[in-house]
Amino acid sequence: MQEILIVGNWKMNPQNSLQVENLLQDIKNEMKNFSFEQKEVVICPPFIYLSNVQHLLSNDVKLGAQNCFWEEKGAFTGEISPLQLKNLNVKYVIIGHSERRQYLGETDEMIAKKLKAVLEARLSPILCIGETKEEREAEKTAEILKHQLENNLKEAISYKIQTNKLIIAYEPVWAIGTGDFCEANEALSNLLFIKKQLLKLFPKNLAEKIKILYGGSVDSKIAKDYINVGFDGLLVGGASLRAGEFVKILKTIDTD
Ligand code: PGA
Repeated sequence: MQEILIVGNWKMNPQNSLQVENLLQDIKNEMKNFSFEQKEVVICPPFIYLSNVQHLLSNDVKLGAQNCFWEEKGAFTGEISPLQLKNLNVKYVIIGHSERRQYLGETDEMIAKKLKAVLEARLSPILCIGETKEEREAEKTAEILKHQLENNLKEAISYKIQTNKLIIAYEPVWAIGTGDFCEANEALSNLLFIKKQLLKLFPKNLAEKIKILYGGSVDSKIAKDYINVGFDGLLVGGASLRAGEFVKILKTIDTD
């Protein structure tokens, strides 16, 4: 059985270090006696709390970032490079989250450059793709997923960057933060479509190793459904800020 990957995306929360410490302490308490067997747990806090999280969590929980820049160093005010993240012990970097596409104007081209830079730094990019409500209603989901995969992965493919650390997160935009999650059956048909596209972009042995996560209003009641239909893990937003609920998600994955 493949290792299941559960990633908590804290987004722009919490508001100060004390709240971070309390949340981490609560997660640690809830996780007592928790078995990490066959599971990789990752927390992606805002950049400013990466060190706090690193110091307060045991080595069992891995560190992720929510974004990064594509250059290694230099005059890029306000940006953070993959190398700087690596030096903080970060292992995963979320790339192309829909909130960054929507509010920060991230284009497919920018995302392609970031993805390549993260892979070059030997970190794992978690590339977020997914359709909006309007695109879904217009039955354009497959077209959108195909476009995002081809365009966001194009730099990595054309420069023949080793992609064995690549992770894809299928996050329907309409399901993010709305409570209106994508039913497992619908998610499954998009999972199968993504797998088919990956087989067109990469050699079979590589394509089959790419983990695909589901994200969008995941909580402990529905978490297991996505693993049951074949997703390799989950990207959890809101619920990752509630220690009890987050750890409950991890535990539900365990029960067969
Ligand atoms: P949500 O966020 O779980 O709050 O819907 C998921 C995400 O944005 O990654």
